[in-house]
Amino acid sequence: MVRTSQAENRTGEPSAAGSSGLVLASVESLAPYEGGKPLDELARELGVTNAVKLASNENPLGPSPKALAAARAALEEVHLYPDGAAYRLRERIAAAHGVTSAEVIHGNGSNELLDLFAKAFAAGGHHIVFAEPSFVVYRISALAYGAPFTAVPLRAMTHDLSAMTAAITPDTRLVFIANPNNPTGTHVGLSEVSRFLCEVPEDVIVVMDEAYIEYADAPDFPDSLKLRGLRERLLIVRTFSKIYGLAGLRVGYAIGPAKLVDYLNRVRAPFNVSAVAQAAAIAALDDTLHVERSRALNLRERSRLSTELSARGFAVAPSQANFICVDLGCPARPVYDALLKKGVIVRPFASLPQHLRITVGMESENDRLLAALKEVLG
Ligand SMILES: Cc1ncc(COP(=O)(O)O)c(C=O)c1O
Repeated sequence: MVRTSQAENRTGEPSAAGSSGLVLASVESLAPYEGGKPLDELARELGVTNAVKLASNENPLGPSPKALAAARAALEEVHLYPDGAAYRLRERIAAAHGVTSAEVIHGNGSNELLDLFAKAFAAGGHHIVFAEPSFVVYRISALAYGAPFTAVPLRAMTHDLSAMTAAITPDTRLVFIANPNNPTGTHVGLSEVSRFLCEVPEDVIVVMDEAYIEYADAPDFPDSLKLRGLRERLLIVRTFSKIYGLAGLRVGYAIGPAKLVDYLNRVRAPFNVSAVAQAAAIAALDDTLHVERSRALNLRERSRLSTELSARGFAVAPSQANFICVDLGCPARPVYDALLKKGVIVRPFASLPQHLRITVGMESENDRLLAALKEVLG
């Protein structure tokens, strides 16, 4: 298992100054985050227009019309700073989940919150544990704050919670679990998560990153909000970027003990979520019909895409999210490049060199992906 015996990319040591003397060595080693290729960029680089983007796990139905109307109305007042405490948004989230607003913190996307956790709780050199591959921001934040970390390999494409528990040291302050995981779409079930939450030493903060939870339909899929009684130091992260279709507005939130939320607020940027985004997020929470339509489309098309690709002989990891992770059985990068030329943008990962992550789109978009993949792979 992991630790120092592993190659350098699995274990980060506390960081000293880099060779430039300007930044930590860990920051020197970082490459900027690379998201799914934007449609504009594809048009600029390859002259391909009319492409479909199945690369960033966005909602193909777009935002809720109610959220759009609220955002437009909020535009009238953008000469004013937003409510830095996001009072109405936090009240609405608290009511939706049966918690107090003191237990809710808002973020500029959930990404900002994940980073804030590392900044607030690990920046002094505390150790962080996360899985590999998982959401890349956990690693970026650890490196950014010079925090040592252990990246625990997935087992059968899924978080190995026993190995993650074993990777915890007396210096560990944070453990990140993405459930469902990105980029695999796989999940860890209720009994495993419950045991994990009980076994992790009580001074460690467990982060359950549930960016895709609204898409989950497995009977054993855990809702961490119902497991808060199992441990005090638990932060549950959700986002408006996925099923709520507001990725471009950047809103996410976390729920946890008021004491942890208080510390996080001390290091949060004062006006981190815009007034437009706050208004849209409140209206999006109210539009349960849009959420239901988005969920139904995803369940239908995720199952169709998985079945179709499995029938073609590809191994598809069982997904609880709005994307699937497909093992092509050959280097994925050339397939990714060939798909780009055909106007289909998916997502390759250096950590999974034979896999592509494909966002579940509209039926017509998925058809286009299936046809392009057939042409490329024969
Ligand atoms: C597991 C996971 N967590 C968090 C995020 C961040 O999402 P956002 O910052 O848009 O809320 C993503 C985005 O892809 C993700 O996959």
